[in-house]
Amino acid sequence: MATVTFDHVFKRYGEVTAVSDLNLEIGDGEFMVLVGPSGCGKTTSLRMIAGLEEISDGTLRIGDKVVNDVAPKDRDIAMVFQSYALYPHMSVRDNLAFGLKLRKVAKTEIEKRINDAAGILQLEKLLDRKPKELSGGQRQRVALGRAIVREPAVFLMDEPLSNLDAKLRVQTRAEIARLHQRLGTTMVYVTHDQVEAMTMGQRIAVMSDGLLQQVGTPQSLYDHPVNRFVAGFIGSPSMNFIEVSIPGSGVETLTEGGFTFPLPSNYRDALGRVSGRRVVVGFRPEHLELGDFAGTTASIRGTADVVEYLGNEELLHVTSEGREVVAIVDSAHRVRPGDVVELKLPAEKVYMFDPESGASLVRTRGVEAA
Ligand SMILES: Nc1ncnc2c1ncn2[C@@H]1O[C@H](COP(=O)(O)OP(=O)(O)O)[C@@H](O)[C@H]1O
Ligand SMILES: [Mg+2]
Repeated sequence: MATVTFDHVFKRYGEVTAVSDLNLEIGDGEFMVLVGPSGCGKTTSLRMIAGLEEISDGTLRIGDKVVNDVAPKDRDIAMVFQSYALYPHMSVRDNLAFGLKLRKVAKTEIEKRINDAAGILQLEKLLDRKPKELSGGQRQRVALGRAIVREPAVFLMDEPLSNLDAKLRVQTRAEIARLHQRLGTTMVYVTHDQVEAMTMGQRIAVMSDGLLQQVGTPQSLYDHPVNRFVAGFIGSPSMNFIEVSIPGSGVETLTEGGFTFPLPSNYRDALGRVSGRRVVVGFRPEHLELGDFAGTTASIRGTADVVEYLGNEELLHVTSEGREVVAIVDSAHRVRPGDVVELKLPAEKVYMFDPESGASLVRTRGVEAA
C-alpha cells in the first residue's frame, strides 16, 4: 500500500496547461475520486501517476519515493482504462496471466492469484472463454481482474464504467466499492460523473480547467462548496442560481421579482465582501418545498410550466419573472402545468457567491479548500 502526493505539479503541452499547480495528498488505502467535466485534466493527472506522461514541473511521490523519473513498470501501480483492451485471441485465464508471465512470476503463484481474483470477481466459470464470448460487464470484470492479480500498491481507474449500460454501471460501481473494502489498496478513480464520485469516493477532488477546485468528503462538498463551480457540479439536478441586486448595506432581506431571501447575520456580514452591487444566490432543488417550514424561510413565487412525474417525487420547472428554477417535491402535491406555486426553503439552505470570482461568501469551519 502507498500514498500518492502531488506537490505543485504542472503538465504543459506546448501552449496548453492541462494541469496547473496540483497539490493533492491521497492517503494510504484511500479511495480518491478525481471528478470534473471533460478536458479538465483528470486523465492527465492519472497518467502522471502511472508514469505515462512526463511531469513538466513539481514533484510526484508514491509513498516516500519521488517518482518523477521512475519508469511505469517500476511504479507498482495497475491501471484500468475505459476501453478494456483485452487480448481477443486469449482466454480470460491467459488475459489475467499475461502481465504476470511477462514479470516472470512463478507458475503456481500465477495460478493462485488468478483463482483469488476470479473468486472475488465471480469469473470462475468464464476463465476458458474468449473476450468476444463475454458481455460488456464481464469484460470489464476481466479488466479489473487483470489489475488485481498484479497486487499493486495503487490502483488507477480511468472512467472504467463508461462503456456499460446504466443498470450494469450501478452494479459494477458497487463491485468496485466492495473490492476496495476487501483489498484496502489505495485507489485513484477518474470520472466525469458526479453521481459516481459521490457514491464511490471516500474523498473527492473536483477539477475544472486544469485547476483543483476543492477536495473533501462527499458530504463536505455537498454542504460547503467553496465556489459556484463546485456548488453547481455536485448534486443532481444542479443547484439553482439567481443573480439579485443588493439594495444597500445592512439589509435583512434580499427581494427581486418573485424571490425573497431573508439573510441570517453571517450572510449580512458576507454581503460586505461582494465585489459589486449584485450577488449570486444558490439553492438546491431538493431543499425546496411547497409547504411552509418552521423558522425563517426563503420563498419563490412562480408558474410551474413543466411538471415531470417521477413516481416518488415530481420535478417542477418553475418560471419566475423570466428566470427558471428547478424544484423536486413530493409527488403527492400533484402540481399541474400552469399552476402558480410558492416554493419555500429554510434560510440556512441558501448559498451566496460572488458574481465575478464565483467564490462562496460564507466561510464555514471544517471546510477543506483546495
Ligand atoms: N497529448 C496531448 N497533447 C496536447 N494536449 C493534450 C494532450 N492530452 C491532453 N491534452 C489536453 O489537456 C487537457 C486535459 O486533458 P485530459 O486530462 O484528457 O482531460 P479529462 O481526462 O479531464 O477529460 C485538455 O485540454 C486536452 O485537450
Ligand atoms: Mg479523460
